[in-house]
Amino acid sequence: MNTSLGFDRRLWPQDLRGSRAHARMLAAAGVLSPAERDELLRGLDLVEAELAGGTFPFSENDEDIHMAVERRLTELIGPVGGKLHTARSRNDQVATDMALFVRDEAGEAVKRIDALARTLVAVAEQHVDVALPGYTHLQRAQPVYLAHHLLAYVWMLLRDRDRFAFVASRSVAALPLGAGALAGVNFATDRGMVAEELGFDHVAPNSIDAVSNRDFVLDYLGAAATCLTHLSRLGAELVLWSSSEFGFVRLPDAWSSGSSIMPQKKNPDAAELLRAKAPRVVGSLAGFYGVLHALPLTYNKDMQEDKEPLFDAVDTLTVSLEAAEGMIRGAEFDEERMAAAASDDLIAATDIADLYVKRGMPFREAHGIVGGLVREAVAAGIPLRELRSEHLDEEARALLERSSWLESKDSEGGTASGRVRAQLAAARAALASA
Ligand code: ARG
Repeated sequence: MNTSLGFDRRLWPQDLRGSRAHARMLAAAGVLSPAERDELLRGLDLVEAELAGGTFPFSENDEDIHMAVERRLTELIGPVGGKLHTARSRNDQVATDMALFVRDEAGEAVKRIDALARTLVAVAEQHVDVALPGYTHLQRAQPVYLAHHLLAYVWMLLRDRDRFAFVASRSVAALPLGAGALAGVNFATDRGMVAEELGFDHVAPNSIDAVSNRDFVLDYLGAAATCLTHLSRLGAELVLWSSSEFGFVRLPDAWSSGSSIMPQKKNPDAAELLRAKAPRVVGSLAGFYGVLHALPLTYNKDMQEDKEPLFDAVDTLTVSLEAAEGMIRGAEFDEERMAAAASDDLIAATDIADLYVKRGMPFREAHGIVGGLVREAVAAGIPLRELRSEHLDEEARALLERSSWLESKDSEGGTASGRVRAQLAAARAALASA
């Protein structure tokens, strides 16, 4: 129950980083001799080699990774190993390890999100003139270019990237180490030196807040929950689009699987999982809010429950971003199927109504007239362009040509190809300004 070694061992790189900085600072502050510092650093190298090589002898009695490292250090270099924990508590130590871990992983997330966004932009670039229906209520609404649709995800991802960049910098700006158990320490330490070595912007100004704070875990989980929610919408669309009913896309085999019984099937498993992953991280976020809720200051063992949700979120986000990138990179879009679906000319109903409006008719009246035309065409089972009606003059009929529906949407941020090209350039520029 008490032990966390089963999961917190993955913090060892951060734990060693923090310990090295701490040992150097203790020597600089005159708390340790240079010889003791060098012996500790040598020992930490030995421990690192064992951990990295998978030969580290974990023991049943190690409560957590921090105790395991100190125990092994002392086995390897003798009693001087016991000096490492001078002027330090596991409370400020674990807060520091977690902050370093969150910073490392938020940085990784920024890179992976960037890679997916770049792939989406590259695929969008190849499909600037491919039309498909845009949907509302999952009903065909207005045609858009595929590039425009894919770029919608790029803007979501750029916001995600910003959120993780914030987590990697501002959420973990303050160094907890040096706070001791909660009240500070009885030695003249130099926390600024440790902050500088470990890449923190400043020293946490309040030792009580320093050991109680896990906001950065909430921030990472929140950013991950939002990013995964975006990916769930991408996953859902890939599932729909790869169905026979839509037939808009063929997903790469590497990200699909066959059925164990139905030979004709190719299941979009990875896209389905992408669709399904977000709620567990949303749940982890809600769960960890629950852990911190009304928790008295300062450190309480409850806070050990920060680790599994965070680690799970990191792994879930990593695999999801990889899968999304692989699926988008390898997707084969069926341009003809998309174009056929987009050429249902009922989709131009709004454009015809807008034509009447431009001629001075109130929109509500135009909406009524065009609604009547649509009903007639549907009742007769013919496309709108074949309907004979006094309301469909030459100019209105010209609007029933597919390309005009798209190219007339030339407002800023609209789907006209000139606007989409401008958007591609803007997305590229945003990606370059990391
Ligand atoms: N394993 C603990 C955690 O993850 C480390 C801190 C323990 N501190 C203590 N005073 N028991 O939170």
